[in-house]
Amino acid sequence: MREWTREERYRYLKDPQELQELYSRIAASPYRQTFHNQAVTGLMNDPNGFVWHDNRWHLFYQWCPWGAVHGLKHWYHIVSKDLVTWKNLGVCLLPDQADGYDNKGVYSGSAMPIDDKIYLYYTGNHRDADWTRHAYTCLARLGNDGWPEKYPLPLFGSHPGYTEHQRDPKIMKVPDQDKYYMVIGAQTLDKRGCVLVYSSDELQHGWMFAGELKVPGFENFGDMWECPSIEHIGGHDVLLLCPQHISLPGRGGTQNHNGYILGTMDWDSLTFTPDGNFHVLDFGFDSYAAACANNIEDEDKAILIAWMGLPDVSYPTDEEDWAGCLTLPRELTVRGRRLIQQPLPVLKKLRNEKIIVQDGVNALPKASELELDCRPGFLRMNIFAREDGTGGIVISYDHDKKEITVDRSGMEQHFNLSEGDMRTRQLEHGLSHLRIFVDSSSVEIFVNDGDAVFTSRVFPTEEEHYFIIKGDTFNRLWTLKAAVKDTFLV
Ligand code: FRU
Repeated sequence: MREWTREERYRYLKDPQELQELYSRIAASPYRQTFHNQAVTGLMNDPNGFVWHDNRWHLFYQWCPWGAVHGLKHWYHIVSKDLVTWKNLGVCLLPDQADGYDNKGVYSGSAMPIDDKIYLYYTGNHRDADWTRHAYTCLARLGNDGWPEKYPLPLFGSHPGYTEHQRDPKIMKVPDQDKYYMVIGAQTLDKRGCVLVYSSDELQHGWMFAGELKVPGFENFGDMWECPSIEHIGGHDVLLLCPQHISLPGRGGTQNHNGYILGTMDWDSLTFTPDGNFHVLDFGFDSYAAACANNIEDEDKAILIAWMGLPDVSYPTDEEDWAGCLTLPRELTVRGRRLIQQPLPVLKKLRNEKIIVQDGVNALPKASELELDCRPGFLRMNIFAREDGTGGIVISYDHDKKEITVDRSGMEQHFNLSEGDMRTRQLEHGLSHLRIFVDSSSVEIFVNDGDAVFTSRVFPTEEEHYFIIKGDTFNRLWTLKAAVKDTFLV
C-alpha cells in the first residue's frame, strides 16, 4: 500500500487541471460505479448537507482529491431532481490555503435552506504549525448561483471540557421550540464518546453551548461519536451515531459502527431516553456516516444516504487512487421498534431490460436488480459467482435458525480481512423477500422489505459475473440504467 507523506495528503488544489491525468486513468477502471455517486478522483467519505432546495436535492460529500487517503477534505456538490439521476456540480467548499480556521480540511456537517440560500454548517479542521488540532464550527452560505461565501469567523471554537475531537454539526429546527439546535460529535477528556448540544435563536449567530446530551445507559460506549443526529421519524425520536473503537457482537473485527437508538428526546433537560438497544443501521461490511434528509412528500418517512465505506480500512481501488461511493438513497420509517430502510420507490426508474432467470447458472449484468419472493425453506445463492456457479458472495438462509448470512469469503479479491468475512442477522418472521442492487463494485441486499440491509463493496474479477439460486423462490432480474455521469468537474 502506498505511503503518503503529510505534504502529499494535505496538498492544496490550485488548478483543476492538476487532476486531469488522474481522472482519465481512474475513469477507465472497471470498478467505476454506474448508478452510485463516487468522487471524480481520490477519496470520498461522508455525505454532508443533504437538503431539498430550489426544486432539487442537494448533497455534498467529503472529498480528498489526491488519492485513496484521508487527507485534505473538501465539500463536493452534487444535485438531483428525483434522487435517481445525479449531476456533478464541482467542489463547493475548499480549505483555506492560508492559516484559516479550516486550513487542514472542511470536515463534515449539515445544511439548512432558508429563502434563496442554503446555510452550510461544517467543522473547520485547523492545525497549528506544530500540528496541534483545533476544531471550529463554521458557517458558509450558498446562493442559488452556486457561489459559496464562507463567514469570516467561526460560530464557535471547541469546548474546553472535551478533547479536540469535536465535529460534524447537525443543524435542526425542533417542532414546538423557538430555537435552532445543533448537535456535535465529541469525546470527553477521559475518552468517551458523547454528543454536545448548542442552541441559538438565529441561524447565523448567537450560538451557545447548551450542555452534553444525556443518554442513560450509553455513558461508556466507544471513545468518540462521529456524525450524530437526532431525527423525528413517524412520531419517534431517533438518535443516529457512529461510535468508534468498540467491538460489538456479530460485527467481526469492525471497530467503527453506524447505528441508532430509538427513544424520547427531551430538549429542556437535554436527555435522550432510550427505549431499547443500540442497533446497527446496516448489517453489511461497508456503511458509515449516514445522513438523513426530510422527505418532502411524507414527513413520516425520512431519506437516508450513507458512505459505502469505513474509516481505517483500505480497498482494492486504493491502488488506482480512488475509493468510496455513496449508498442508494433509502426511505426510512419506524416499524416494530426498528428502523426500516427500503429503496426509494422512485428507484424503479432505473430498471431497463427485464431478463428471464433460468434454473442453474445465470449471467449477472454489471448493473442489475434482482428480486426474489422466497417461500418458507432454505435458500442458498451465489452472486458474483464463477461461470460454474461456485464462489462469489454466498447469501444463505437457515430455516431452522431463522438466520440470513452473507459470506464474502468466496470472492477472489479479499480485502479488510480483519473485519471478518461473514455477517448474520436473525429474521423474526423468517425470510420472505430479497431485493438486491448490483453495481460494478457494490451490492446492497434489502431483506424482507427493509427489515435488514446488507451493504458491501465488492470487487469481482472478470470471471465473477454469474449467479445461481437454490431454494423455493420466484425470481426477477432487470438490468439497470446508468444514473451518475462521471464528468470531470472540479
Ligand atoms: C467520519 C469523519 C467525520 C469527519 C470527516 C472527515 O467519517 O471522520 O467525523 O468530519 O469524516 O472527513
